[in-house]
Amino acid sequence: MSHTEIRDLSQPLGSGGDPDVVQAPSRINEQTVAELRELLGRYPVARSALLPMLHLVQSVDGYVSETGVQLCADLLGITVSEVLEVATFYTMFKRRPAGKHHIGVCRTALCAVLGGDAIWDAIREKLELEDGETTPDGLFSLEGIQCNAACDYAPVLTIDWEFMDNMTPERALTCIDLLAAGQPIRSTRGPILTNFRASERVLAGFPDGKADDGPAAGAPSVRGVRIAKVNQWTAPEPIPVSLDTPETPQTPRTTPATQSGGGE
Ligand code: FES
Repeated sequence: MSHTEIRDLSQPLGSGGDPDVVQAPSRINEQTVAELRELLGRYPVARSALLPMLHLVQSVDGYVSETGVQLCADLLGITVSEVLEVATFYTMFKRRPAGKHHIGVCRTALCAVLGGDAIWDAIREKLELEDGETTPDGLFSLEGIQCNAACDYAPVLTIDWEFMDNMTPERALTCIDLLAAGQPIRSTRGPILTNFRASERVLAGFPDGKADDGPAAGAPSVRGVRIAKVNQWTAPEPIPVSLDTPETPQTPRTTPATQSGGGE
């Protein structure tokens, strides 16, 4: 199939689908196809668009659906296997429908010892979820995630990929209660939370105009810069690199002092 031929999205994709993928009805429509085409048009090499295309699929279906996988393959002129290689490598891509709100708990050592494990246990118990599961009402899904590069705010939680810093089990459970009641919550360094699918659309490359909501960098993140300024520390000058470096490494020149076999 050429990359311009798209399957009839109203028809099932046939047997032999990925057994790991939940067969839920897809919401992908012609507008989605147009936006997927727009994404691949942003890159000199079309297949470079696969990551944002998969985020867009998630923004529509709530996970990387079989329909979305097939569509990405068709549009890019690559195989379904090649799409799945990517979709199964990155943990941000879900093979089962995520909840309206996707909660990530950092379980890497620093967050874990500062309270992340207690937060994880509290949320698991409250929502009765294990890693990767979604509540029956589709409201919440839970994921243990690895270091979010936000260690200066440990322990951290993400909700719909937005940071909730310096969490405690009590504050985390309060967030869940507020979201369940439809109350607005502002992430600690970003906008008021929306939902998983809306965040996925932003990650796909369709901004929601909220990029400047919240501080660009909080005080803990820039503390090192402030200390350096006070002490007038600067980074060392870069070491010049010669473009005339020989292709084959040269044997280090030895001197009598470094030669072995003393006594010769
Ligand atoms: S260990 Fe949790 S953000 Fe780094």
